[in-house]
Amino acid sequence: MKTLMTQFSGRALKIAVGSVLFAAPVFGQTGASLYKSRCASCHGADGKGDTAVGKSMHLRSLASPEVQKESDQELTGIIADGKGAMPGYKDKLSAEQVKDLVGYIRELGKK
Ligand code: HEC
Repeated sequence: MKTLMTQFSGRALKIAVGSVLFAAPVFGQTGASLYKSRCASCHGADGKGDTAVGKSMHLRSLASPEVQKESDQELTGIIADGKGAMPGYKDKLSAEQVKDLVGYIRELGKK
């Protein structure tokens, strides 16, 4: 009986570890892929707001000096709480994901 239990829990552990590894890509989405799926519809793939929605909303380019001069904290606040017509993401994204997005906006600024 004891061996059976050990065997069973050994297998359960393997399954648990397996599913964590399998789920990792979903939770470990990078700033770039998050941006593409959540933000590019308005802000455009390159952040310039060159989309139909972006133009109608008069978006500033995320790569522009005006946006880049905002602190990480300010950008985090805008993404989490929203600003004007932009929806807030604090219920949909983790703090870690918002941080990745701020990192990605910095990347856009370098291009
Ligand atoms: C529904 C369209 C829409 C989506 C989707 C959207 N935004 Fe925005 N975003 C806006 C608008 C509109 C503004 C300008 C708000 C204002 O200045 O009143 C804005 C402003 C911003 C700003 C501040 C730039 C500035 O001009 O000060 C940042 C940073 C930003 N968005 C990041 C993001 C990120 C990151 C995502 C994805 C998680 C995202 N946005 C998704 C519409 C959108």
